[in-house]
Amino acid sequence: QTDKPWGGRFSEATDAFVERFTASVTFDQRLYHHDIQGSIAHATMLARVGVLTEDERDAIIQGLNEIHGEIERGEFDWSVSLEDVHMNIEARLTAKIGITGKKLHTGRSRNDQVATDVRLYLRDEIDTLSEELSRLQRGTIELAEREADTIMPGFTHLQTAQPVTFGHHLLAWNEMLQRDYERLQDCRKRVNIMPLGAAALAGTTYPIDRAYTAELLGFDRPSTNSLDSVSDRDFAIEFCSLASLILMHMSRMSEELVLWTSAQFDFIHLPDRFCTGSSIMPQKKNPDVPELVRGKSGRVYGHLISLLTLMKSQPLAYNKDNQEDKEPLFDTIDTLKGCLKAFADMIPAIEPKREQMFEAARRGFSTATDLADYLVRSGVPFRDAHEVVGKAVGFGVEQGRDLSEMTLAELQQFSDVIAADVFDVLTLEGSVAARDHIGGTAPAQVRAAAQTAKALIAAR
Ligand code: ARG
Repeated sequence: QTDKPWGGRFSEATDAFVERFTASVTFDQRLYHHDIQGSIAHATMLARVGVLTEDERDAIIQGLNEIHGEIERGEFDWSVSLEDVHMNIEARLTAKIGITGKKLHTGRSRNDQVATDVRLYLRDEIDTLSEELSRLQRGTIELAEREADTIMPGFTHLQTAQPVTFGHHLLAWNEMLQRDYERLQDCRKRVNIMPLGAAALAGTTYPIDRAYTAELLGFDRPSTNSLDSVSDRDFAIEFCSLASLILMHMSRMSEELVLWTSAQFDFIHLPDRFCTGSSIMPQKKNPDVPELVRGKSGRVYGHLISLLTLMKSQPLAYNKDNQEDKEPLFDTIDTLKGCLKAFADMIPAIEPKREQMFEAARRGFSTATDLADYLVRSGVPFRDAHEVVGKAVGFGVEQGRDLSEMTLAELQQFSDVIAADVFDVLTLEGSVAARDHIGGTAPAQVRAAAQTAKALIAAR
């Protein structure tokens, strides 16, 4: 004997451990709002096509709304023996309104319900994440505008390469985030398709109106194949893959923040409220937020691999394996949301140490390329110019002096085309200002790029 909603053909109760082992209610109860939303739309559609009476529909909707309130107030008694969020809510509905409650499940199955709930839930979360990502982008761009003239060393191989503006560096971050935003919107298109009506796998014999249910739920359209719509979780995998990309980008930003706050770089100051101390070393102030974000990227990559492996080789249509989609997906959403919030709060609070950045750019011969370009403009072939400047740098290394600190006579030892105007290109300001084309680091370009980037966000 069994009290399960599916218990008709069973002759003994479920093993107590199996009951707990197969239940998902401890983690899928967070879908309650979307489960109820889906059920209300389903009942509304069933009444419209004549499968339910209007009174039955109204009783169901009222009961579901009351249950929603019970859950929100923390009064709902979740039961593991009722397995999941869907059966818990349905059983409560029947307890409240009697046999009419049992009619709600006409023409649908839990397989459609869970696929629908997860899509509705993820759609809402994508919208929340999109806003948070936009906030992070706005903060990054505003900081870039303020720092359009701030000069820092640009690196390749983490070795000083050429001077860049700090604003330009920040706008590089924004480019990554902009693509991430676009990926999020693109993913949403494939999430926003309605599986309801698959009725487990093959469709149903009732005269359901799927286009109407889809419209009620704000889906773009009903899914086009019942077997596919209950079985695939590629939309969740796609979401986790873009979440992995976002966190990969944030881990790169994090790494730079960690470097820049170190005494060795000393490029920025992070306000105390984003840092913590050491229990033993009194002098310590650690950049925990970026470190943790860098670390959390690994956990989200793990969820992506979990979901890919979960779906791999599953035969059509629904399999219980799919119940395992929720924890990785939910944790990905929670983790990403936390990281975006932390960064959106912290990035605008960065205090650049402009003089330190400037001094760092002066060390490391960052204007060597500018000197080579200067020689080329005087008719020296680039390869020869490269050689000449290499020698001048070698001399500077020996002397412990930058190119801009040498006398004209010293520089002329390496090439007689060098004249007094060489010092214009050896300054850091001259170097960045000269890179004045789309995508270049000149302050004027940074200001223009920031305008364009802000306009893209304003148009969302
Ligand atoms: N809790 C299940 C899940 O998350 C709902 C669907 C179960 N359907 C079934 N026939 N066992 O996937």
